[in-house]
Amino acid sequence: MKNILVTGSVGQIGSELTLELRNRFGGSNVVAGINRTQPTGELAETGPYMKVDTTNLEELASTVKKYNIDTIYHLAAVLSAVGEKNPGLAWNIGVNGLYNVLEVAREFNCAVFFPSSIGAFGPTTPLDNTPQDTIQRPTSMYGITKVTGEMLCDYYYLRFGVDTRGVRYPGIISNATLPGGGTTDYAVEIYYEAVKHQKFTCPLGKGTFLDMMYMPDAIDAAINLMEADPSKLKHRNAFNISAMSFDPEILATEIRKHIPGFVMSYDVDPMKQKIADSWPNYMNDAAAREEWGWNPVYNLESMTVDMLKVIRDKHSKGLI
Ligand code: SER
Repeated sequence: MKNILVTGSVGQIGSELTLELRNRFGGSNVVAGINRTQPTGELAETGPYMKVDTTNLEELASTVKKYNIDTIYHLAAVLSAVGEKNPGLAWNIGVNGLYNVLEVAREFNCAVFFPSSIGAFGPTTPLDNTPQDTIQRPTSMYGITKVTGEMLCDYYYLRFGVDTRGVRYPGIISNATLPGGGTTDYAVEIYYEAVKHQKFTCPLGKGTFLDMMYMPDAIDAAINLMEADPSKLKHRNAFNISAMSFDPEILATEIRKHIPGFVMSYDVDPMKQKIADSWPNYMNDAAAREEWGWNPVYNLESMTVDMLKVIRDKHSKGLI
């Protein structure tokens, strides 16, 4: 029997991951860990939720004990742009929160999923076809917490045998919960603005290529990796995964196929641009494909069709 805890369950990825885990493993077996934001709708109605501030070891341990948790999907984090504005918060949640999760996992024998990021790379990394194992000297606090997290997860596996696994997510595009202050958020906002106002002001410049992925693939990645045969995993943590790479112009051109009058202008945010320039243009994800069968379904074309369909529907109902 699987008993799962998702930290950060009201966030962009956590909210959809929790619902999919409940679909697959049963609502009562998946606890939504929340902190400051209360869950609403389906998330609140389909299974239990508990206040779990990951920086509070006692709170985490008592939830794991109470629900006999055996797997923790640790999604609570601070994204890159917010992290630059508040580096102390990014470190506390990104590193101290993960440390607590790993300590509790060690004590109660839980498997742990940890999402690292393209942010774990930096300007000295080869930015084209970024290898799985390469130079990692990130220059954002977000990236520093992610590299530290990757190493902590490796350490807990090697030293204590904790079943840690994880991926390096690219920018995640979704239509349910908005992302909370990342560098790649523009690729979500552009769809909403295209539907609502047929125009968008982009905070990243032309030619800024970044890896991206549609949410259903991001969710499948997490669950498939956690369900994978461990004997096949050579890397375990921090697998590069990508589904597509584009710059703002390519994305705008794709949207124009459906909304011909869509207009994009630029007002580059220097802080976000600096971060984006230090991240890969596209990663090599061969290790994930070989070791646990990573194989994304959505590309830019199919994702755009689905995003616009869902957002238009919400708009026509007055929900956005
Ligand atoms: N989407 C994240 C961010 O922009 C990157 O992992 O912060």
